[in-house]
Amino acid sequence: MRLRVGLLSSWLAISASLVAALPAFPNSQAARDVDEFDFVVVGSGAGGGPLACRLAKAGFNTLLIEAGGDANGNLNVSVPGYQAVVTQDPTLRWDIFVNHYKNQTQAKRDPKYVYETGHNEYHVGPSPPPGAKDLGILYPRGSMLGGSVNHNALIWITPHDRDFDTIAQLTGDNSWAASNMKKYLLKIYQWLPVMPTDPTILLRDLPLTRHLVAGAEAAGYSVPVLSPLARLGQLLLQSPNAPVPNRDFVEGYFQVPLTMKFGERQAVREYILRTVAEGHPLTVRTNTFVTKIKFDSSGPKPRATGVDYLQGEYLYKASPLHGTSSGTPGSVRAKREVIIAGGTFNTPQILKLSGIGPARELQRFGIPVIKNLPGVGTNMMDRYEVPVNVKHESDFSVLDGCTFDLKPHDLCLKQWQENPYIFAARGAYTSNGLATMMLQRSSFASTPDVDLSIFGGPLNFQGYFPGWHDFSVRDHKHFSWYSLKAHTRNRAGTVELRSSNPLDQPLINFNYFHEGTTAGGADRLDLGALVQAIRKSREALGDWANYPVLGGTPFVEENPGPSVQTDEQIGQFIKDVAWGHHAACTCPIGPDSDPMAVLDSDFRVKGVDGLRVVDASVFPDIPGVFIQSAIFMASEKAADVLIAEAKANA
Ligand SMILES: Cc1cc2nc3c(=O)[nH]c(=O)nc-3n(C[C@H](O)[C@H](O)[C@H](O)COP(=O)(O)OP(=O)(O)OC[C@H]3O[C@@H](n4cnc5c(N)ncnc54)[C@H](O)[C@@H]3O)c2cc1C
Ligand SMILES: *[C@@H]1O[C@H](CO)[C@@H](O)[C@H](O)[C@H]1NC(C)=O
Ligand SMILES: *[C@@H]1O[C@H](CO)[C@@H](O)[C@H](O)[C@H]1NC(C)=O
Repeated sequence: MRLRVGLLSSWLAISASLVAALPAFPNSQAARDVDEFDFVVVGSGAGGGPLACRLAKAGFNTLLIEAGGDANGNLNVSVPGYQAVVTQDPTLRWDIFVNHYKNQTQAKRDPKYVYETGHNEYHVGPSPPPGAKDLGILYPRGSMLGGSVNHNALIWITPHDRDFDTIAQLTGDNSWAASNMKKYLLKIYQWLPVMPTDPTILLRDLPLTRHLVAGAEAAGYSVPVLSPLARLGQLLLQSPNAPVPNRDFVEGYFQVPLTMKFGERQAVREYILRTVAEGHPLTVRTNTFVTKIKFDSSGPKPRATGVDYLQGEYLYKASPLHGTSSGTPGSVRAKREVIIAGGTFNTPQILKLSGIGPARELQRFGIPVIKNLPGVGTNMMDRYEVPVNVKHESDFSVLDGCTFDLKPHDLCLKQWQENPYIFAARGAYTSNGLATMMLQRSSFASTPDVDLSIFGGPLNFQGYFPGWHDFSVRDHKHFSWYSLKAHTRNRAGTVELRSSNPLDQPLINFNYFHEGTTAGGADRLDLGALVQAIRKSREALGDWANYPVLGGTPFVEENPGPSVQTDEQIGQFIKDVAWGHHAACTCPIGPDSDPMAVLDSDFRVKGVDGLRVVDASVFPDIPGVFIQSAIFMASEKAADVLIAEAKANA
């Protein structure tokens, strides 16, 4: 797909289309004049998408380059109930394989450890067949217009004040203070619809609400045993984002706000398409994979002047559809700046391939060093997530007719499609399946902020591995509580080049727990908090017994399982199975005094001109409880910074 509208005249549009089609053309003088934009933004996800829209809306001729295609009309994306299905869609996904531990004995204790047995063929778990190749743990990423925002779980929880205040303190740049950042949240709500799951959908399945009621009791509320639903109804009105005093510190039980409009996923992709349709000078090039940032090194400081790319579908080897094609090369110039927003794994890869990174690593691959920045691809952080999964004797009726496969027999899809205007009538698929959450502060937290989010739903999710979605909805008898540890302390993750081939995925090591940050007992504190989270989940499952009035059949705990009881046993379970999906912080903002800082507080890559990074990798510390809100806010801030500077230098 190519979209080109706005202030460009049509002849320009036609000749620019030719650039895409004809490999030799960009080298001619005519093409260089035409294929030039004020700003070139690489990556259309949480970081790049909102920024590109704002730049275009301010009148700057902006190019948004995206490696993936547009999932136009693909129900995998738009149906919230397919939030897990969509991560398996081969046209939209990149399969990134990462290491949780260097110690492969520990790493292979994870039942999700993946071995390659053939092209796109995998063995998951112990006892791989002879000759199988170690791959590690699947880390889903979306590659499409809208990025991973289009295949995430839609959960929208705004960051804690401290997330921004610490950036202000670290850099001395007070524009990062939470009191100033709030205005970006308001800007986001101009284009982002947010709604919780409709409570009436839940109330139709009383055995399901029985778990949710028990969760409320475990979260500290007294819920009447004989008539619990009114209380649950009240709690479902509580938004975790409400700007109440001490909001960041308040433990409680809340609805889960989702990035959707009347039960249909809408976020960055729709904002981009609207911006184009409104006639702002935004050009979007999908199926275009950036391989390198180009620099003019003739002056005292290298200056980014544009990017080289390959055009074609599924070029990155992480795509399950990648073939032998390496695409059609091209390049584009940026009059003002290049902004890299490829995400936590790809942004450091692009920087390193372009000569920005640890000099020794670049030299090992024969990459000429433009700027030695040892922090690129270091400091990676993530949250840990762990489950408690139980299985009932009978099905949850809320999922009756839900086959999660887009086929004509998927009655829940039919209901969703046939009731576009009546939210409550659209049924189960208007939810991501996770309707309530406890926010808790463990006794291992280092700040007053809550540090555990525990949310529940009727599925058997145990983390990511090839086919994880099919596994998690294989029956409708499971219920699970999931715990996410916020404000984790481990910053020992790394993203390193595997080769100098831009189409190879990088080597990614998270160095979980004892292999990572241990100063001050950091690993034990994070583990301790997660042990408490598992105990809290079990408390909710225990409280389930108090509400027989709501019906339902008995259940057995499958994970961690009844034999896992002591802190030590639970701790080992957590180390074995924990996963993450909020990877961040690989190009951290920091002060000039910190040699490992990659960006200044205005998103500039240190030591070069005309180059910024705006995505999950910019944070010095992993923000909030869920991450997309913090990235959207950073994206809006970056737009403010770039527009103000560009106007000053007009
Ligand atoms: C399964 C899953 C569920 C999640 N659920 C939630 C949730 O419920 N709530 C929440 O807050 N967060 C959630 N997240 C996390 C959140 O979606 C991501 O952290 C966020 O999208 C990251 O934003 P980003 O801009 O850094 O990268 P992305 O959104 O991944 O965007 C990067 C884009 O850049 C493109 N790109 C990369 N390299 C190149 C290149 N060389 N050339 C051109 N284009 C390139 C990619 O194709 C991609 O489209 C979830 C993540 C996953 C994987
Ligand atoms: C949706 O995703 C599934 C994989 O989960 C895939 O089999 C199917 O083809 C996808 N549908 C579309 C329309 O792409
Ligand atoms: C690697 O992990 C295993 C399993 O946790 C452990 O028994 C072993 O001692 C570890 N090896 C080293 C060298 O730390």
